[in-house]
Amino acid sequence: MMSLQHPLLAVCVYLLLPAGQSRTVGYRDGFFYQDIINGNRNEEIYFKGVRLQVESTLPSVSASRGSSVTLPCHYRYEPELSTSRRIRVKWSWLPTSSITATLSPEAFVRETEVMVAMGNHHRSYGSFQGRVRLRRSAPGDISLVINELQLNDTGRYRCEVIDGLEDDSVTVELELRGVVFPYYSKKGRYHFNFFAAQQACQDQDATLATFEQLFTAWEEGLDWCNAGWLADGTVQYPITFPRDGCGGLNLAPGLRSYGQQHRFLHRYDAFCFLASVKGTVYFLKHPTKLNFTEAVQACASDGSQIAKVGQLYAAWKLMGLDRCDAGWLADGSVRYPITNARVNCGPPQPGVRSFGFPPLSLKSGVYCYQ
Ligand SMILES: *[C@@H]1O[C@H](CO)[C@@H](O)[C@H](O)[C@H]1NC(C)=O
Ligand SMILES: *[C@@H]1O[C@H](CO)[C@@H](O)[C@H](O)[C@H]1NC(C)=O
Repeated sequence: MMSLQHPLLAVCVYLLLPAGQSRTVGYRDGFFYQDIINGNRNEEIYFKGVRLQVESTLPSVSASRGSSVTLPCHYRYEPELSTSRRIRVKWSWLPTSSITATLSPEAFVRETEVMVAMGNHHRSYGSFQGRVRLRRSAPGDISLVINELQLNDTGRYRCEVIDGLEDDSVTVELELRGVVFPYYSKKGRYHFNFFAAQQACQDQDATLATFEQLFTAWEEGLDWCNAGWLADGTVQYPITFPRDGCGGLNLAPGLRSYGQQHRFLHRYDAFCFLASVKGTVYFLKHPTKLNFTEAVQACASDGSQIAKVGQLYAAWKLMGLDRCDAGWLADGSVRYPITNARVNCGPPQPGVRSFGFPPLSLKSGVYCYQ
């Protein structure tokens, strides 16, 4: 640990901070204070024996798209102060896309502001405007409440307190609950470069899954023997039952990774992630079976839309949709969702069964989304 004999060192540390992150320089009112980086790399700042501490009860929080979420954070002084100091609270955010897009950590990534509050004044920024507030349920409570969560709100949030002399912060990770599903092109297996995979997921109302999301899906039993792109540009696939042709029998269950692949030249399938959806997916009651054109119209006549693949997966995974009838989906594939595996409804595990992309003239049922 650096000790108090080296105040000038502390000043240098401050001056070396990148522009935009500059803080009060460590010399003020004739007192030095210093930035001590402890073993956990958490910054703790001491000033005249009083220490500002910013803490969170949870390192990460997960919530559903469209819902509200609270990112816990509170601050206190040690020892407690007899008179309160005027503080400024700042919440900032590093989107998941920047975290995963950056190979070499931190250095080039800038957090963006979410909200700044001082006394009764507060201000929110960008797409957070009008959607965020501080909870303030108790003294020192500066938890951030975010309403109407969007897919792109995920990432690392920093809760920071500045009182003019001191500054401390903590980070909380925000994840969205949802479902990961493998997706491949109408044209067949291994047709997507990275950008086409991104687009394919978007067309299913989803995004490319992150490593963490695929890992969670694997823990929950996803087994898929075709490699797909992830949001960080790596290509991987989840194996629960080791077998030949899927990394072999000698490899333990887990995620098989091909590492980073060339985003333009290399082609694979995609792993998409969809956070829970507000609407419902249902199998349309209809007297006859339908070709694809008729299926699209039948949903429209029922006041809804033909469901997307992601929506069917979300309904299966998050709402337990279980139906042993094949149905058209918006991308021209035919599938059905099984929660309770049974005879004549596919393999003995739950899952969304797929018949791939049959001719559009095939007569089938249809899944609609409302
Ligand atoms: C997040 O998505 C919303 C709508 O889906 C959009 O309005 C907003 O600009 C996006 N924010 C960012 C930072 O991309
Ligand atoms: C579906 O059937 C209708 C007649 O009911 C026909 O006009 C249409 O071309 C068919 N579409 C396809 C894709 O076969």
